[in-house]
Amino acid sequence: MKSPFEIKKEICEVGHKLWLKGFVAANDGNISVKINDHEYYCTPTGVSKGSLTPDMIIKVDENGKKLEGKLNPSSEIKMHMRVYQKRPDVTAVVHAHPPVATAFTVADIDLDQYILPEAVLTIGNVPTCDYGTPSTMEIPDSLDPYLQNHDAFLLRNHGALTVGCNLNKAFFVMEEVEFNAVICKHAMDLGAVHEISNDQLKKLMDLRKAMNLPGRHPGIDYGEEECCGSKDQLVADITRKVLAALGK
Ligand code: 13P
Repeated sequence: MKSPFEIKKEICEVGHKLWLKGFVAANDGNISVKINDHEYYCTPTGVSKGSLTPDMIIKVDENGKKLEGKLNPSSEIKMHMRVYQKRPDVTAVVHAHPPVATAFTVADIDLDQYILPEAVLTIGNVPTCDYGTPSTMEIPDSLDPYLQNHDAFLLRNHGALTVGCNLNKAFFVMEEVEFNAVICKHAMDLGAVHEISNDQLKKLMDLRKAMNLPGRHPGIDYGEEECCGSKDQLVADITRKVLAALGK
């Protein structure tokens, strides 16, 4: 198990990579990591993610309330907490403003073209969530329709959010989103975007299953049991299955 210091250091390293790659400007972006159901580490608000140090990382509870740290937690902590609430499989969340992927939302062009096998395997199409005012519940609410079937989300006129079963994975998804957007933009500039055929897409989905890749993907049918709905929804699903088994 990683020590608190190691986790905080990893958050700083990922922040630095986001900054180096130009995925954030000024104090853009935020990162969080789940420690257990009641404790999470997150980046502080209003600082460059390129120059974070472990002592700046904040510990918050499941409501985003500060438990430890000198600075204040990210203003977008509610967005992170919504992910952890609805996706128990997720232990890390990364928010950044990767320029090309974000430009797709500004141009109102969906990032839903299946052009690269790696991107098809790992993220599939990336949904664009409705615009929301940063730091309000509008952003967490805008994620809701897509949270169960995706690990990558575009935030309209704002940026991107990626999630993963560890911090490296969440960062890799962010890289993949931007790389896919860059290639798509180059192909559009060159005048033609040829997508991978449906037959080949099916083979990629079979490969994803065979590789047992972690995370959620829009091309996979998880069935109700594997999706993490509310308790009421789970009870309703179980009741429906029992009734179906009884032939009612
Ligand atoms: P914080 O500095 O509060 O994390 O906010 C940065 C940001 O990107 C807001 O969307």
